[in-house]
Amino acid sequence: IDPSLDLIQEIKRLKQEKNAVILAHYYQEAEIQDIADYIGDSLGLSQEAAKTDADMIVFAGVHFMAETAKILSPTKKVLLPDAKAGCSLSDSCPPHLFAKFKEQYPDHLVITYVNCTAELKALSDIVCTSSNAVEIVESLPLDQKIIFGPDRNLGAYVKKKTGRDLVLWNGACMVHEIFSQDKIDRLRAEHPEAKFIAHPECEDHILATADYVGSTSGMLKFTINDPANTYIVATESGIIHQMQKASPGKTFIPAPPNNACACNDCPHMKLNTLEKLYNCLKYESPEITLDESVIARAQRPIERMLEISA
Ligand code: 13P
Ligand code: SF4
Repeated sequence: IDPSLDLIQEIKRLKQEKNAVILAHYYQEAEIQDIADYIGDSLGLSQEAAKTDADMIVFAGVHFMAETAKILSPTKKVLLPDAKAGCSLSDSCPPHLFAKFKEQYPDHLVITYVNCTAELKALSDIVCTSSNAVEIVESLPLDQKIIFGPDRNLGAYVKKKTGRDLVLWNGACMVHEIFSQDKIDRLRAEHPEAKFIAHPECEDHILATADYVGSTSGMLKFTINDPANTYIVATESGIIHQMQKASPGKTFIPAPPNNACACNDCPHMKLNTLEKLYNCLKYESPEITLDESVIARAQRPIERMLEISA
């Protein structure tokens, strides 16, 4: 890329020229969030992908999110700035193994968390996100048997909230299982006035001590409406950009992880850069393509989720 190029201007120009929309997840780099047409959590992003009238969707997020957009808008061109932007949680549930797992529970309904491959969604009855998982389980009859996958932590959280006995797949997100209870306790002792907020992909013992548990947009809303001035935030650190923008006078501290670099960035989300976003718009690549039969089978479970969360 020519170093004299004003990437932000060029991205804006190409976006208009190609009638493209940029959808970005809260875990993206701040500069990508700032140029997006829509920033949101997984539910908001899929609702946006379903209703956009743009010809092209540039998905600044990870592979499963761009696939969901393609399933909901199959006639549109869907681009992902870095084709390698995957997800450890999605990888923890290979569809051929899940299909075998499902065979053991023939009378169960399958709810899958949106953080999974299109093939996995095609094996499901209803998809959910972290912001509607409880609502979706509660929308089903009490005697309905349910398999929930792939996230064991969100699954355990939903079990606790609903009192239902879900059969869980044993998957997890590498970012949300990294938090150190000891370091969080020490930080809270240093900041007794701070509220501790956490994403339900975190482990049960972390969630048990949280003042608020919710999806990224839920956490953001909480920090806007809550009277406290300081928050310790247990999720990927990208969300803090929006929290800080919405409440400039408040302090946001990323919850400390176990690792030596003290960083809770998602290595997949952070593969996307402004340069890759520009190249992807310019060359219309990497493009998300999916088998028509997978699209046809994965559409209904996602639409059921959108109907319940409308
Ligand atoms: P939400 O933004 O839906 O809370 O999802 C978090 C996440 O891990 C996305 O990868
Ligand atoms: Fe996947 Fe976790 Fe990264 Fe979200 S934060 S994309 S669940 S690895």
